[in-house]
Amino acid sequence: MTVVHSDALVLFGVTGDLAHKMIFPALYAMAKRGELTVPVIGVALPKWSVERLHERVQDSLKQHGEIEDIPAFDRLLSRLSYVSGDYKDETTFAAIKKALGEAKHPAHYLAIPPSLFETVIKGLGASKLAEQARVIVEKPFGRDLASARNLNRAARAVFPEDAIFRIDHYLGKEAIMNILYFRFANTFLEPIWNRNYVASIQITLSEDFGVEDRGAFYETAGCLRDVVQNHLFQIVALLAMEPPAGRDFGAVHNEKAKVFQAMRPLTADDLIRGQYAGYRTEPDVAVNSDVETFCALRLFIDSWRWEGVPWYLRSGKYLAETATEILVELKPPPQRLFADSAPTTGRANYLRFRISPDSSISLAARVKRGGKEFVGDQRELFLMEERAIGKTPYELLLGDAMAGDGALFTREDAVEAAWAAVDPVLKAHHEVHCYQQGSWGPKEADAIIAADGGWHNPGRAEKALGA
Ligand code: BG6
Repeated sequence: MTVVHSDALVLFGVTGDLAHKMIFPALYAMAKRGELTVPVIGVALPKWSVERLHERVQDSLKQHGEIEDIPAFDRLLSRLSYVSGDYKDETTFAAIKKALGEAKHPAHYLAIPPSLFETVIKGLGASKLAEQARVIVEKPFGRDLASARNLNRAARAVFPEDAIFRIDHYLGKEAIMNILYFRFANTFLEPIWNRNYVASIQITLSEDFGVEDRGAFYETAGCLRDVVQNHLFQIVALLAMEPPAGRDFGAVHNEKAKVFQAMRPLTADDLIRGQYAGYRTEPDVAVNSDVETFCALRLFIDSWRWEGVPWYLRSGKYLAETATEILVELKPPPQRLFADSAPTTGRANYLRFRISPDSSISLAARVKRGGKEFVGDQRELFLMEERAIGKTPYELLLGDAMAGDGALFTREDAVEAAWAAVDPVLKAHHEVHCYQQGSWGPKEADAIIAADGGWHNPGRAEKALGA
């Protein structure tokens, strides 16, 4: 079966934040590569002229640096048109249809608040704009299990599953794609990649800035919904999955979905919630808000491979650094043959995946120091180390969605199973603990991982963990 390329992009929410921060730069990058060959129809409520929209695009690109390729910029603008209207109004969809002209296979990108997804999807169905079309949906996909199910039902009433592209931009990051490659392009990992050799796995996604101008959104989401149920869980799935049965991406989706299904639903005691000092005075935040800007949690995957291995996930705003790292800690040798045998003098051997801001994979092993004594140090062997290259996640994912390639998107069953794991603690949780800006979160978060050697705090620049 030949997969058709989308012949137009309809961008709902074109005047909003996501378009400004992520989508315009991605479209410009596509234009620079000569890969933006279809009309782009922006849709939103404000009564803007197309010139106003052009100014907005220019402003967005300038915030990301100089517009150095003027012909590409002009190509982007020349492809852009604008439809103003209410998403509840059928005349809006009639105007989109008109703007689409000859295009028969549009991709509809919903860069809009989640509360409007269903309205737009229904509007697309009723106006027959969903036929032979694709829909690209931004996270968060639902806000709990029930709403995700409803949303999936609404989307599936109008689009077949293979026409629905649920974006989690972490799946478009090189370093995250490399987890899948690294695991299954090598044989040496397989014998140790299980409960027999892995003591624990921890993942930290930390940011040294606050909610900025997204207080209103954050109040409806919180850290667990914003980055844990999606970004961090996707990383867990790639680390924990069984080998896919074949090359097609459906096989990868199958194995990832099984990981989410095997996640033991979280209980209140598995989750420490934190809130940075000053959050309640951020714009659009309630003065008595209980929303968490930090989460630390302990998770178990009840599968043959991972039985009993704790997974520790942590994320927060206004922490000490902006970095994402994974630490796969191996069990110490069974006998303490040397005076400094791990873990008494430090961490046991581990594999460290640095995801951002730079990426690397390193393997830490102990080697003997020179001299008569049998003592050594833990050294990191860097298998790969590089600065970000290639396409940004948004550029990659937008191009893939328009080409009908669903490899880097999330599937309905996986999204629902991931929600099922966090659903119990979305409401039934302990109160938030306040933490100082620039710290590593509330001290209560240390207790859940104390038995496994504590948190590893990623550094700003690459540095070895040492013994
Ligand atoms: C987004 C969240 O999905 O991911 C943000 O809404 C978060 O709150 C961002 O800052 C992190 O993404 P990245 O690519 O900067 O690590």
